[in-house]
Parts: sequence; C-alpha cells; structure tokens
Amino acid sequence: MTTPPAEAAPAVIITGGGTGIGRATAHAFAERGARVLIVGRTEATLRETAEGHDGISTVVADITAADGPDLVVEAALRALGGIDVLVNNAATAAFGALGQLDRDLARTQFDTNLCAPIFLTQRALEPLAARGGTVVNVGTAGALGLRSWPNNAVYGASKAALDFLTRSWAVELAPRGIRVVGVAPGVVDTGVGVRAGMPEDAYQGFLKQMADRVPLGRVGRPEEIAWWIVQLTRPEARYANGMVVPIDGALSIT
Ligand SMILES: NC(=O)c1ccc[n+]([C@@H]2O[C@H](COP(=O)([O-])OP(=O)(O)OC[C@H]3O[C@@H](n4cnc5c(N)ncnc54)[C@H](OP(=O)(O)O)[C@@H]3O)[C@@H](O)[C@H]2O)c1
Repeated sequence: MTTPPAEAAPAVIITGGGTGIGRATAHAFAERGARVLIVGRTEATLRETAEGHDGISTVVADITAADGPDLVVEAALRALGGIDVLVNNAATAAFGALGQLDRDLARTQFDTNLCAPIFLTQRALEPLAARGGTVVNVGTAGALGLRSWPNNAVYGASKAALDFLTRSWAVELAPRGIRVVGVAPGVVDTGVGVRAGMPEDAYQGFLKQMADRVPLGRVGRPEEIAWWIVQLTRPEARYANGMVVPIDGALSIT
C-alpha cells in the first residue's frame, strides 16, 4: 500500500484558481497547511486569491496552449518541490442549441474541459507517481448518469467524458499509486454567469429559479465544493478511487 506523505504539507495544483470553486479550493487547502499553485490566464484574479495566503503561489498559463502543461508542471516543481494533488477545475461553458452551435465555441469547450486535463495530467504523471498523488477532476452533476442537457449538450458532453476519464484513469493509474476521483457540483453561486456576460439580475434570477428546484432549497456555495475536494485527497480517503461524487443538494436525483 502506498502511504501518501500528504499529511505534512501537500503540494497542490489547482487550475482555474483565480475565481469561484478554484479560489475556494485554494483557500481550503492553504488553510490546512498545503502549499498551492493556482493556474489561470488572468494575473489579477490569481493575485486576489493568493493575497494574505503565504502558501499560495500563482502561474499565469493557458492550459489549452501546447506549452501549458510544461509551464504549469515546471512551475509546480519549482514552487512546491513536487506534486501530491492535481485539481483539474478550470472549465468554460457556452450555452447553445445544436442549430446555433459555433465551431470555435464547441472546440474551446472540448479543449478547456477535456483536452487540457488530459495533457496536464499526462505531464504531471511522473511527479504524481513519485508521491502517490491524487487527481481530482471537477465535472458537473448536470452530466451524471443518463441525464440529458438540451441547449447545453457540448458542455455536458465534455464533462461526461471527463467522468469517463476519471473512471478509466483510476484503473489505469492505480498500479502507479495514483488515485483519480471526481466531484460533480450542482448549481453553485460562483458569479460565473456574470463573468460570462450575463447581467447581474438575470444571473440572480437564474440562481433563484434553480434554488427552487433543489430539494435543499438553495444553490451551493463554492466552499461547500472545496471541502469535498480537500477531503478526497486526504490520506484517510486513500481507498476512494474512480468515483465521481455529486454535491448538488440532491438536484440530480429529482
Ligand atoms: N458554478 C457552477 O454552478 C458549476 C456547476 C457545476 C460544475 N461547475 C464546474 O466547477 C468548475 C469551476 O467553476 P466556477 O463556477 O468556479 O467557474 P469560473 O469561476 O468560471 O472558473 C473557471 C476558471 O477557469 C479558468 N480558466 C478557464 N479557461 C482557462 C484556460 N484556458 N487556462 C487556464 N485557466 C482557465 C478561469 O480563469 P481565467 O479566465 O482567468 O483563465 C476561471 O478562473 C468548472 O469545472 C465548472 O465546470 C461549476
């Protein structure tokens, strides 16, 4: 059995750590003593996340670029000295019915949500294996099981495929001591709609509409997803492998 040496100060990469769930996850790891490298394309938001947290360092990188994985992993090895955890959190979503789908928007979603995690995880394999590390893929509860997602099918397909990678890599990488797990958030108030160009009142209206459909009667908070990501990487979670945990107030089983 590989015993993760993570109890002391795990070294953690989080893509999309400048905002939303990635920011909350960076704070959650840093607050329990981890050293964290956050990745994103916007220096200002990365800096805001890191402010007041000595354990958080930043790297500006586009994870879809050909040199993205090298940039990120080399920065992690320099800043953290190794990799215990890789959180593939960065993603992009562009709603659209099939009839209106634009090729570039479809490509960007698959590049960001699927290809980038593939090649970043591939680049991180050796350091992860050296530490008995964990990969956490952030999917979505909207793409679990046999659900459909009309008018958002490309995003949903990218996340369903990510879950398939989670299960497949869990089996493939287990002999190397690497665990691979997923979390599938429900609707979470991260401000993502506004950042994507929605007027604030329309985004709030969307959140309210969704809250009414969630059995718990509200949408989620970023720190409620972050908590699960941290727990799944803890040494006590070392028998967890290959599963995708829905964290959605039971929305996906209604
Ligand atoms: N919020 C929800 O309701 C919800 C529900 C289900 C699942 N999720 C999933 O949870 C994760 C986080 O969502 P969120 O709501 O926190 O979204 P968010 O705030 O938009 O975070 C996405 C992050 O990814 C980064 N990113 C996007 N493209 C990138 C690229 N090419 N290279 C590097 N970084 C990139 C963005 O930073 P830059 O633009 O600065 O690069 C941003 O910080 C995503 O995987 C999302 O699909 C969210």
